[in-house]
Amino acid sequence: MEISSTHTIEASIRSDFDRIAAAGEEHWDNNRHYHSYLLRQLKGRCSHALDVGCGSGMFTRALAARAQQVSGFDLSPEMIGHAETASAMCGNVRYCVADVMTIHFPVGGAGCVASIATLHHLPIQDALARMKAAVAPGGVLLILDLYRAETMMDRLVGAPAACMSMLLRLLHTGRLRPPRAVRLAWQAHARNDRYPTLAEIRSICACVLPGARVRRHLLWRYSIVWNAPADGV
Ligand SMILES: C[S@@+](CC[C@H](N)C(=O)[O-])C[C@H]1O[C@@H](n2cnc3c(N)ncnc32)[C@H](O)[C@@H]1O
Repeated sequence: MEISSTHTIEASIRSDFDRIAAAGEEHWDNNRHYHSYLLRQLKGRCSHALDVGCGSGMFTRALAARAQQVSGFDLSPEMIGHAETASAMCGNVRYCVADVMTIHFPVGGAGCVASIATLHHLPIQDALARMKAAVAPGGVLLILDLYRAETMMDRLVGAPAACMSMLLRLLHTGRLRPPRAVRLAWQAHARNDRYPTLAEIRSICACVLPGARVRRHLLWRYSIVWNAPADGV
């Protein structure tokens, strides 16, 4: 029973993101605004980086400049198709259509494990534990995702966030809103999307990733930065 409902959820996520990918690649979204922040958490270069739930590979390609080899994983074949086309010039990037909850990540094999806007699709605690296990000693785990507004503070940032988001989109794309096909595809997906609250994220991190820094960002997002001890303990 549980297995078949898990399969149904994955099938629906896969078809949502196949539709979003088919609606057309956008070169800007609110996650993109935080790429430079995430990259600043990486000290120097690393040998292998993983992008968990890589979508069309926007961040995977950014990681390619900081790692000898980058692997991007995503459930959606359409997304991976876009990622491969867009990454044709990056010789050190490879993609794989896979469920990141079942694929084998070599334990302690990656200097950087990153995941953007994907954690809320996964069983959060188990997913963080899997990603943590893949980080090499001295490496870093980087998460960016969305949270659900719960507190007065969460709601207060909504208005400035909406203004900032529109302004950034205008600057980067010349439009105030995404094209209609993209909007409709995201609206259909949003009907089944559920985000954790910041308090839930902090409590899970305290248990799975002691010492991690959890930070709220203006555009409805939070980040988790966890540095693995250099001695692997
Ligand atoms: C909102 S998109 C973000 C994509 C990309 N990280 C970015 O920043 O553009 C979330 C991605 O997570 C992927 N995803 C969700 N559940 C997954 C799973 N179990 N295994 C692999 N990918 C998954 C979806 O297919 C989708 O492409």
